[in-house]
Amino acid sequence: MAGLDPEDWSGIRAMGHQMLDALFDRMEHVGEGPVWQPMPQAARDALKTGFPEQGQSLEDLHDRFTDLVVPYGNGNTHPGFMGWVHGAGTPVGMLAEMLAGGMNANCGGRSHAANEVEREVIRWALSMVGMPEDGSGCLVTGSSMANFISIITASRAQDITLRSQGVGGRKMVGYAATTAHGCLPRAFDLAGFGSDALRRVPVLTDHRMDLAALKRMIREDREAGYIPFMVAGTAGTVDCGAIDDLAGIEAIARENSLWFHVDAAFGALACLSSRFKNALSGIEKADSLAFDFHKWAQVPYDAGCVLVRDGKAHAAAFAQSLDYLIREPRGLASGAPWFCDFGPDLSRGFRALKVWMTLGHYGSERMGQMVEECCDVAAHLARRVQTTPGLVLLAPVTLNIVCFGIDGLSDQDVSELVQDLHESGVAAPSTTRINGRLAVRAAIVNHRTTTADTDRMLDAVIALAAARRA
Ligand SMILES: Cc1ncc(COP(=O)(O)O)c(C=O)c1O
Repeated sequence: MAGLDPEDWSGIRAMGHQMLDALFDRMEHVGEGPVWQPMPQAARDALKTGFPEQGQSLEDLHDRFTDLVVPYGNGNTHPGFMGWVHGAGTPVGMLAEMLAGGMNANCGGRSHAANEVEREVIRWALSMVGMPEDGSGCLVTGSSMANFISIITASRAQDITLRSQGVGGRKMVGYAATTAHGCLPRAFDLAGFGSDALRRVPVLTDHRMDLAALKRMIREDREAGYIPFMVAGTAGTVDCGAIDDLAGIEAIARENSLWFHVDAAFGALACLSSRFKNALSGIEKADSLAFDFHKWAQVPYDAGCVLVRDGKAHAAAFAQSLDYLIREPRGLASGAPWFCDFGPDLSRGFRALKVWMTLGHYGSERMGQMVEECCDVAAHLARRVQTTPGLVLLAPVTLNIVCFGIDGLSDQDVSELVQDLHESGVAAPSTTRINGRLAVRAAIVNHRTTTADTDRMLDAVIALAAARRA
């Protein structure tokens, strides 16, 4: 035996085949059973064994995984899952995860093929959104990290001394609509500017950023001695999927010498649809862009992506010169720039393989169709809401998100109704607040969700609402 490798390779090989069969069985029948069920206390307790002194057999561990973990998942692989913004994964992504695990590549740097796969994936992403092919980018945990990297890059492009001196008294501010995702103010918080430094621009009745207000706020901040450095538009807001006027925001950014960032966490995938890509016009002009492959691209978690138009500015914001990480012209330590030059992570997994295999297998055309199919399901649900007495559509359905209110029920009732729905195992929408009112929110990001699933969800909502009213 060498190190931790098995003495009996044929035994672990047989076990591996068994695990793979179980995985395929589960994926093939993923729509059967409840979307979600609460994990009983007994199962939680059974996981608390303490750090074992002696190793256990893989058979036992797999049995425990099968009994204690698999039945109590997040539910997002099930077609009845339509909450938050979750991708559903594919068998292709599942296999790619395993293949990447076998490579155990560290994609922080150096010269090896896994980094070339990531470079190719970044080129695909740049071309998907129409950004120039000489832009830079890297795969990260998710859009929260991608937005954070973008804010850091934007601010360092404005003032590189921030890297060594910190924010100090500098009154740097940025702008995003009130509907922007919470990871943007958090990025300002983490970057040291403080979350208040992200000015929240009001939205119009169509849930898109009010551009007149944006211009006014920039002017007022300048007059008050602040230093505006960036503006973020959102392509697909988390609450109702609205798309800011990206071309309009870009024009204001250029007039005011601001960095133009786009948070397109899930909306970026709509660039693959000829039906929706015009609505995203202006996205191609972004200085930086954050989006996720793990959302609408259905790549298994986690797989976020940040893209930057000016690769030099991107590297200038993060790259370090360290004696123990010297880049050489030849050998394993060549291949600069390294991916660790484009974000805070030094050690990085081979996320690119599951992206490369998923997009490579389905192709841009099929992915674009899948996006449209999700939007068709959302449109069907919206029509049903509009024709059902007692239900009211609370926001226009731009892409794949439907928010509706239930007349005669308080916000507390709606919240409890959705909790009941989750516990029934029928469907898992989420909630949000639209114009102050609590909405049931169905985000059709899941490629497995059909109109039959949204019908089942709506029928259950109607029955639960009737019971509550009674
Ligand atoms: C518009 C938007 N931005 C950012 C995020 C954060 O993405 P992640 O959860 O991948 O960090 C989300 C998540 O739903 C989102 O919808």
